[in-house]
Amino acid sequence: DKGEYEHFMLKEIHEQPSSIGDTFRGRISIDKTKIFLGGIIDVMPKLTQAKRIIIVACGTSWHAAMVGEYLFEEYARIPVEVEYASEFRYRNPVINADDVLIAISQSGETADTLAAIKMAKKQGATIVGICNVVGSSIPRETHAGVYTHAGPEIGVASTKAFTSQVTVLTMMAFMLGRKRGSLYDELYKQLIQELTLVPEKIKHILRSEQYIKDIAETYKDASNSLYLGRGVLFPVALEGALKLKEISYIHAEGYPAAEMKHGPIALIDENMPVFVLATKDKSYEKIVSNIQEVKARNGKVIAVVTEGDQTIKKLADHVIEVPDCHESVAPLLTVIPLQIVSYYIAVMRGCNVDQPRNLAKSVTVE
Ligand code: M6R
Repeated sequence: DKGEYEHFMLKEIHEQPSSIGDTFRGRISIDKTKIFLGGIIDVMPKLTQAKRIIIVACGTSWHAAMVGEYLFEEYARIPVEVEYASEFRYRNPVINADDVLIAISQSGETADTLAAIKMAKKQGATIVGICNVVGSSIPRETHAGVYTHAGPEIGVASTKAFTSQVTVLTMMAFMLGRKRGSLYDELYKQLIQELTLVPEKIKHILRSEQYIKDIAETYKDASNSLYLGRGVLFPVALEGALKLKEISYIHAEGYPAAEMKHGPIALIDENMPVFVLATKDKSYEKIVSNIQEVKARNGKVIAVVTEGDQTIKKLADHVIEVPDCHESVAPLLTVIPLQIVSYYIAVMRGCNVDQPRNLAKSVTVE
């Protein structure tokens, strides 16, 4: 039931403060000092001692995996490889018994992801699932796993499943960091605290919906667009681009901001909207220069910035503010405005938002 909303996608975008809360409910202690993931207790020794973590997924779940890579390396200091399930399964990959393979899937039915885990399992790896649909095929093949508890996602374009996947990966990264000693206790507690603040901060972003809708109106007739981000926000750029292309059929590409001058900058002219993830973090100065580079070529910049940012306001055509947050949780906040922009552009173009052409909610054929 869509309730008061015109589409499931919009409803699911709005559910995120509560769906993310549902993902960490019962898994973070009341005093916000501990993380407990019951589903992976049995494989914790394997996970903490893993020489390598391989994450396999498709589509949006693959973008969540890319966020996971960044977080696992940063906080748990474990090397991570992120693989498209379809490529991994046919590549004759090197898999060892001390590798842990994490499979991420909203539906738990994606054919390539399922086949990839069956293969890795045969070769002795420990398999951990991060899935939304309880009792689906992937959780039945794994040694252990964490359900995302985002609730049913009906819109073909994934929104709340993505933020719940990222929430699980964030909890895992912090917990592993603590267990492996790469995160000291004070920082660990601070990070947990930051994560618990996310639902309220998303509610705050959702209050700018009308403002974001006006931005959508400005760019609804574009035929191309670019999405740029650095570090943990690079996968968010990929996700923003996928959201726009799959429901509005506008060509969109996501890039690490620094790669722009290695090719895509040639595309920039006054007709090119460029969405830039530019919140205050360690690459802030660099992203400001990337914005200047786009403006120097008359591109239109829509920047997602930290509340109160004055520097980018002077450079960009539009800024969308998100509340100040720790870098580790910035993907959860910055993806929200991109979901909303895509939604409204698709609606304004008369597209079938919940059931885009040629797409199915779960891809059970390879
Ligand atoms: O159910 P899964 O998470 O395994 O699905 C993976 C992709 O098919 C899915 O994320 C797809 O890319 C969505 N349409 C993205 O919005």
